[in-house]
Amino acid sequence: MERLQKVIANSGYCSRRKAEELITQGKVYVNEELVTELGTKVDSKDTIVVEGVTLNKNVKKEYYLLNKPRGYICSVSDEKGRKVVTDLIDTKERIYPVGRLDYDTTGLLILTNDGEFANILMHPSNEIEKTYVAIIEGILTTEEIYQIKNGVIIDGIKVVPKRFKVRSKDEEKNKSNVSITIVEGRNHIVKKIFESIHHPINKLTRTNYAFLDVKGLQSGDYRYLSLDEVNRLKALKKKR
Ligand code: URA
Repeated sequence: MERLQKVIANSGYCSRRKAEELITQGKVYVNEELVTELGTKVDSKDTIVVEGVTLNKNVKKEYYLLNKPRGYICSVSDEKGRKVVTDLIDTKERIYPVGRLDYDTTGLLILTNDGEFANILMHPSNEIEKTYVAIIEGILTTEEIYQIKNGVIIDGIKVVPKRFKVRSKDEEKNKSNVSITIVEGRNHIVKKIFESIHHPINKLTRTNYAFLDVKGLQSGDYRYLSLDEVNRLKALKKKR
């Protein structure tokens, strides 16, 4: 017997967190009975229906690394009809992005239909490192560089980067090129870090995710993750 949210995530329907939401919102039926309890246990003989869709327990797990272009939403559909990242990937499976890059952010994005895998990558306690390169307005003072390195408080929580570097400065254009590595996954976190010290971001790209990078992939291109890469990412799960 396994927990219902885990079985839904394993089926590839959505992430474990999303499955928990759907259960508490009353969108999940087990053997034609509505289930809203998160602890409910099910087994392989049970028929699970989520938002009217009967789960197929034998879907093939897929893992992609996309070099996201600007102008795409990190979602599987958009009610305003904007382009979504899954439009870029040729698959029949219900894959979804692991975490979010903003509409105007480019770079490395992982997509999958493996809910357990997505959960490992998104769980804050696994502290997966993500590196971003940004063009920011202005030239940072020594104090501001220390401020970032020592950590700034965003919405009540301190963010201390693992690494921070000013890559170059353009005094004429009054812009700087910086790179920052964080384990945080909150929405708009990098933009908020630089806004908090009054150096807003003009351009943002994610160059690295754990040991992965986007080298060799043009904007909008993608590749499969190798079995070895998937296993190495799964191994980043910390024992709790
Ligand atoms: N932080 C941001 O501000 N935007 C992103 O797209 C990713 C991280």
